[in-house]
Amino acid sequence: MTSRYQEMHTRSLQDPEGFWGELAEDIHWEKRWDKVLDASNAPSYRWFTGGQLNTCYNALDRHVEAGHGERPALIYDSPVTGTIQTFTYAELRDQVARFAGALAKLGVTKGERVIIYMPMVPQAVIAMLACARLGAVHSVVFGGFAPHELATRIDDATPKVVVSASCGIETSRVVHYKPMLDSAIEQAKHKPEHCIILQRPQERAALKPGGDLDWDEAMASAGPAACVPVAATDPLYILYTSGTTSQPKGIVRDNGGHAVALKFTMHALYDMKPGEVFWAASDVGWVVGHSYIVYGPLLHGCTTLLYEGKPVGTPDAGAFWRVISQHKVATLFTAPTAFRAIKREDSGGELMKKYDLSSLRALFLAGERSDPDTLKWAESHLKVPVVDHWWQTETGWCISGNPLGLERFPIKYGSATKPMPGWDVRCVAPSGDEVKPGQIGSIVCKLPLPPGTLPTLWNAQERFVRTYLMDHQGYYQTSDAGYIDEDGYVFIMSRTDDIINVAGHRLSTGAMEEVLASHPDVAECAVIGVSDELKGQVPLGFLVLKASVQREEQAIVDEVVKKVREEIGPVAAFKQALIVPRLPKTRSGKILRGTMQKIADNQEFKTPATIEDASTLEDLDTVLTDHGFAKARKH
Ligand code: COA
Ligand code: AMP
Repeated sequence: MTSRYQEMHTRSLQDPEGFWGELAEDIHWEKRWDKVLDASNAPSYRWFTGGQLNTCYNALDRHVEAGHGERPALIYDSPVTGTIQTFTYAELRDQVARFAGALAKLGVTKGERVIIYMPMVPQAVIAMLACARLGAVHSVVFGGFAPHELATRIDDATPKVVVSASCGIETSRVVHYKPMLDSAIEQAKHKPEHCIILQRPQERAALKPGGDLDWDEAMASAGPAACVPVAATDPLYILYTSGTTSQPKGIVRDNGGHAVALKFTMHALYDMKPGEVFWAASDVGWVVGHSYIVYGPLLHGCTTLLYEGKPVGTPDAGAFWRVISQHKVATLFTAPTAFRAIKREDSGGELMKKYDLSSLRALFLAGERSDPDTLKWAESHLKVPVVDHWWQTETGWCISGNPLGLERFPIKYGSATKPMPGWDVRCVAPSGDEVKPGQIGSIVCKLPLPPGTLPTLWNAQERFVRTYLMDHQGYYQTSDAGYIDEDGYVFIMSRTDDIINVAGHRLSTGAMEEVLASHPDVAECAVIGVSDELKGQVPLGFLVLKASVQREEQAIVDEVVKKVREEIGPVAAFKQALIVPRLPKTRSGKILRGTMQKIADNQEFKTPATIEDASTLEDLDTVLTDHGFAKARKH
């Protein structure tokens, strides 16, 4: 018998227009589409061309008009400020409409960009939805990035307005957002016309007369703005993510395909019903926050939870259980690292016993591979399905997972289960030929990708094609390696590029190398990701100093650590660099980062046949052993 999942998956690939066309009926359209799938510019595909809609209308107004105005839309729970605040759908709609009015007064219109650089406060969500209401394009920048990174994004997105806050609160540390914003604008070539600043009681920022506006004043003097219909293919947002250079990639998300796909996942994957509470414990600065703190739950009429706190330390490792029981969370979504942090402090799950967790039906994990120990620990304590699901900023939603709303597959530890409907996932050798089940290869997805995935990169269509579509004709290159087993389960093992995953945050080692290389005493450098019990991976730098350098080595290491924090941000968690006499390289001069990583992680390694000088590996091993890493295991 064909299962419901199998039937949907097969249909989605054989008849994508019929499949997605039917699901699109769940969205309110101002004008129906002319074509579900437009392949006229393949390999760039577009969904729902000719259609018009407004994403904010679908997320808010539509529910109010259907009589659900009193339903909670957003619960803000902030242990760091001692605040809990609930917004009903009607209240959130009114606040969003008013803030859209404030933006419109500053000249923000359809297609105009607005950068949002904010902590986890409701105003961040309000600002995002207000942009969507006007058809303006938001670009949220994660607060853990330094001014230099913000400046890069300002120059690429060229926003008319930046929305920010006086400060953020990282457990007990106050993060001074406004001075960082000022510094970013100073560094950027493009100058936004205005900044709207939310003054938080924990710290008030000095506003510059003329350009800077106070959030409360802007709201008080604005009237509500109506929803502006936009083309399904118009951009809703740009979200920058790490690429292989220090120039981040601006992932573009459209309006139509995004709304259709996210609404579908809310029931098919997360098994949620309107009115239930969905909690993505992430940050609005990441794709998980965009899709599942803001748009997905609201499009589906759920209550979303915005949590300004950490899994541990706010105040303890019972924080998640307190939130689940207090707000009756049905589904929690977070990164495995959060559970590793909780497990480290409360391995017996004692704090869990203090709370009623009966509302919780499932836990979803993503952002990095769920290590089987952590997954089993969560399963045994929570006694609900724990789903590892795989996705990327580029895709906006899950490529493979366990679609609890369709069918619950038995869990295989270490696997992100099966491709979701819409996804044709293959594992290929460098030749492009598919490998046998169980064999490691590059994971690619057959084009067209389903709705909601990136149609292009902002201002960089050529880079989009080169990065994702050129390696294997007709396929999207995920840059993840892994295997697919004989039952069709997908196992994602590692990246094939220089991206590392630090506490579920995606970072480029190439960008860190650029910072290290700019230090005047550094002749050459490399950065690799080494295994870390809490964060999954952390960056480790290797420096070769210029021959003339006579300074104390530790001072140079301290300087490069500070430089990465200042130029990329604290989120890079770059805390360690080692000085080595030489770097291991191939005869053609390529640094052997993969072998270096194996040595640092104490995995077995083979000396590559192409190595220029094998003694460089011995030297590296000695330095690592001197710094507390285990002696390498040569194969
Ligand atoms: N603004 C400013 N600084 C920030 C920040 C923000 N929004 N978010 C993180 N940082 C800072 C942290 O304070 C820390 O600074 P420090 O070096 O001074 O301590 C640094 O960036 C690294 O942050 P992080 O990697 O988050 O480490 P942590 O030790 O603060 O917390 C975890 C570790 C595991 C508790 C935390 O990463 C976590 O909860 N992760 C799971 C959820 C998640 O965010 N997933 C992302 C995608 S789903
Ligand atoms: P981001 O764009 O920040 O979401 O990071 C995407 C990358 O994180 C993917 O390309 C994977 O390398 C990794 N990743 C995300 N989810 C998973 C998962 N469930 N299993 C394995 N790797 C994952």
